[in-house]
Amino acid sequence: MAPNLSLILILLSIWSSNSKVEAIGVNWGTSASHPLTPPQVVELLKSNHISKVRLFDADPVVLQSLSGSNIAVTVGVPNSMLKSLNSSLKVAESWVHDNLSRYFYVGGPKVKIEYVAVGDEPFNLNYGQQFQAFVVGAAASNIQAALIGAQLANKVKVVVPCSSDTFESESGLPAKRHFRANPNKTRIQLLTFLDKHHSPFFVSISPFLSFHQNKNFSLDFALFKENAQPRNDSRRTYKNLFDLNYDTLVAALYQAGFPQMEIVVGQIGWPTDGAVNATSDLAETFMKGLLDHLQSKSGTPVRPREFPLETYIFSLLDEDQRSIASGDFERHWGIFTFDGQAKYHADFGQGLKNLVNPQNVEYLSPKWCLVNNNKDLSNATASALEACLVADRSALSPGGSCFSISSPGNISYAFNSYYQQHNQKADSYDFGGLGLITTVDPSVDNCRFSVELQTSLSPAQCHFLDQCTTFLVWSALVISYVGLTWQKISTVKVL
Ligand SMILES: *[C@@H]1O[C@H](CO)[C@@H](O)[C@H](O)[C@H]1NC(C)=O
Ligand SMILES: *[C@@H]1O[C@H](CO)[C@@H](O)[C@H](O)[C@H]1NC(C)=O
Ligand SMILES: *[C@@H]1O[C@H](CO)[C@@H](O)[C@H](O)[C@H]1NC(C)=O
Ligand SMILES: *[C@@H]1O[C@H](CO)[C@@H](O)[C@H](O)[C@H]1NC(C)=O
Ligand SMILES: *[C@@H]1O[C@H](CO)[C@@H](O)[C@H](O)[C@H]1NC(C)=O
Ligand SMILES: *[C@@H]1O[C@H](CO)[C@@H](O)[C@H](O)[C@H]1NC(C)=O
Ligand SMILES: *[C@@H]1O[C@H](CO)[C@@H](O)[C@H](O)[C@H]1NC(C)=O
Ligand SMILES: *[C@@H]1O[C@H](CO)[C@@H](O)[C@H](O)[C@H]1NC(C)=O
Repeated sequence: MAPNLSLILILLSIWSSNSKVEAIGVNWGTSASHPLTPPQVVELLKSNHISKVRLFDADPVVLQSLSGSNIAVTVGVPNSMLKSLNSSLKVAESWVHDNLSRYFYVGGPKVKIEYVAVGDEPFNLNYGQQFQAFVVGAAASNIQAALIGAQLANKVKVVVPCSSDTFESESGLPAKRHFRANPNKTRIQLLTFLDKHHSPFFVSISPFLSFHQNKNFSLDFALFKENAQPRNDSRRTYKNLFDLNYDTLVAALYQAGFPQMEIVVGQIGWPTDGAVNATSDLAETFMKGLLDHLQSKSGTPVRPREFPLETYIFSLLDEDQRSIASGDFERHWGIFTFDGQAKYHADFGQGLKNLVNPQNVEYLSPKWCLVNNNKDLSNATASALEACLVADRSALSPGGSCFSISSPGNISYAFNSYYQQHNQKADSYDFGGLGLITTVDPSVDNCRFSVELQTSLSPAQCHFLDQCTTFLVWSALVISYVGLTWQKISTVKVL
């Protein structure tokens, strides 16, 4: 008995020490021009004790890299598929068959898929009415029916990611909250659907945006600072903006008739560039406040002791192709830069140890494109603006890390970004004779002039492709020679 008991105690202690971080995941977006490879990203997750990840699609290469990893996965159905999924159950069945079932077959690649996220914030105000009609009517229901048909409904739950503008509050306080009036009916249908299938409400919460948009909240309040001025809402006192945002949603759910509905925070983070107060220092403070708060399991004033609640940090990596419709900061949500370098310290269960960066990251050559100061620069701005159509100039915006380099440094920044985005191709730095290549890193202070990563389309690999082509041509020659010879022999034989 005694050894068994101690074994149980050991198992229990392992379980409870793991459960500390179990509920914290990250969003892994792939809107990047030169991303790390999926195996490198999976290594990054593993070496940093991150046990849950949310994807925005169901890329088989990504899922293959996650197989056998024991990392819990949310796969996504893009908004662009909602219409066809709504149109027929068959489409949903083949989506589930192709994109889910294969990871549950005995002997096949094993991926621990927990959720299918139908759409990516389809109710977001930026999208207008585009997707709303398709979300519940059938997209979610058809996927749910297909899951039941594939006998996966007890393993995988359907969720619909909603943005924080789904609910609103006149004063920013929970007591004055409600779901956005329009479209009320769809929203109620969604909640009824989720409730019926015991699925959680999957929502983005953004203290950064609340702070950015509503000057009524102090930065300290958004950053979980002890000394922040608390906010009172009827009988409750709020010490941070996260609790306030969260309880506003709880109150809206209560008002809609679903007071007990579970909530998963699908996205929460703090960007580090591209806006005022978007810095690594503030992001570190925010993340420490958030992770400490979640791990304290104290809950929020309306839902005390409900934690650790499932929370997905937004985001794992910076993405230079993300839409900047809501602001230049959109490309800088990463805990890690695009090339996997940790921007600050965050505790995912490793304690005081630093986050671990990936191994063997391969860059393009250490070369940068700058504007040639010896030339007449009167037309340079026009070239730079042209470059900016493709280049990522988000760090140049007010408050951004390169805002203070001014002209012509900012033109160089745009030229370089364009040059890197085009894999340093020889014809991508001319800019009417204004471009110049340097091998001296022009970065100043926090303003980093990046060198992009090698991808399958980069010159080094093209070089490799050239070799491949040469090899293939040779092989083809050899094969045809052998073939001809064989043909001759067989012809001879037949004759
Ligand atoms: C979605 O599918 C349902 C069921 O097939 C259908 O009644 C509805 O008209 C569709 N919605 C739209 C906007 O096409
Ligand atoms: C599987 O998902 C991807 C998107 O993640 C989609 O492009 C593809 O069409 C899906 N397969 C089917 C059969 O729908
Ligand atoms: C700002 O805060 C004050 C005092 O807490 C409150 O009365 C007011 O309604 C708030 N305004 C907005 C726009 O949130
Ligand atoms: C939205 O629906 C809820 C529940 O059905 C109802 O109580 C509320 O009055 C509706 N709001 C609007 C603006 O239609
Ligand atoms: C908020 O409520 C607390 C008690 O819950 C009280 O001590 C404090 O004075 C109140 N603050 C304001 C601004 O009303
Ligand atoms: C946040 O931004 C404001 C406006 O630029 C600035 O005054 C303030 O110092 C910033 N706070 C921190 C902590 O960086
Ligand atoms: C600048 O552009 C204008 C109009 O295209 C052109 O006429 C002029 O020669 C250019 N100046 C230089 C220095 O290239
Ligand atoms: C560079 O900064 C100057 C002002 O210092 C501005 O007029 C110009 O538009 C900027 N160019 C780019 C490409 O950001």
